[in-house]
Amino acid sequence: MPEFNKEQIYIVTGASSGIGKKTALLLNESGASVVAIARNEERLNLMKSECKYPENLFFEIKDLTEDIEGLPQYVKSLKEKYGKFSGMAYCAGIDGVIPLRMITYEDLQKLFKINYFAPIMFIKGLSDKRNNIGKGTSLVLISSIDAYLSTRGQSGYSGSKAALSASMKSIAKEITSEFGIRINCVLPSIIKTPMSQSKFASSVGITEENQKHLYPFGWGEPEDVANMIIYLLSDKAKYISGQNYIIDSGVVL
Ligand SMILES: NC(=O)c1ccc[n+]([C@@H]2O[C@H](COP(=O)([O-])OP(=O)(O)OC[C@H]3O[C@@H](n4cnc5c(N)ncnc54)[C@H](OP(=O)(O)O)[C@@H]3O)[C@@H](O)[C@H]2O)c1
Repeated sequence: MPEFNKEQIYIVTGASSGIGKKTALLLNESGASVVAIARNEERLNLMKSECKYPENLFFEIKDLTEDIEGLPQYVKSLKEKYGKFSGMAYCAGIDGVIPLRMITYEDLQKLFKINYFAPIMFIKGLSDKRNNIGKGTSLVLISSIDAYLSTRGQSGYSGSKAALSASMKSIAKEITSEFGIRINCVLPSIIKTPMSQSKFASSVGITEENQKHLYPFGWGEPEDVANMIIYLLSDKAKYISGQNYIIDSGVVL
């Protein structure tokens, strides 16, 4: 596990649940300071009792879709409160299985707001040199395997994640060469979190057991993704930027 120190401050969005929560807890355990962002205060508070260094874990209650235009300013306000950031794991996101015949413009907007528009505007704020430590800053975004390999009813979700993975490549060309900031995406397949549990609870017949041919190691655990995120945030990955990493147990794609 890479080691960090408490002067290294990382933002983790989507920190109240699933992959974001595990990422925030592992980063904290590795010695970093973490600013954990989500809407659900109760679940964030619960994390305090589960983390190793509670004095290095800070919470911000925020709906990232309520003022997307203002996110760069929000990042600046966080910098003024906590100091310059060493990086971010953008783990906030929503899923949605909606067949094309049912989908509305509003559905598409909802998916794109949190999965695409908010992370791009957040990165705009964070890549401002007044808000980060410069060379050594690392940003990791959670995209999805659905960006490449979509299933039925995922046109909006897949589109939002494909857009994120594609934009990341362009952003890397700007911020890595200009400022030495690294940016990468991780693209998980099925990970056992509240998001996937609610999705598969409503999908009759899809179980971990009957998908063994696709998932030889079973469905993933949040830490399978969090470990990769932490590696990419750390200096161990100092030569890596602009990449999309699939985490799918090796057989799905
Ligand atoms: N689980 C999987 O199988 C899987 C596979 C591929 C990709 N992913 C991606 O991985 C990421 C994390 O998913 P997960 O499975 O960990 O889901 P999860 O357990 O449902 O967690 C989602 C997180 O996003 C936060 N969030 C949602 N809307 C928000 C908003 N408007 N403002 C601020 N925070 C918001 C939630 O916090 P609050 O509700 O407290 O605000 C929660 O912490 C997502 O981008 C997802 O698309 C997941």
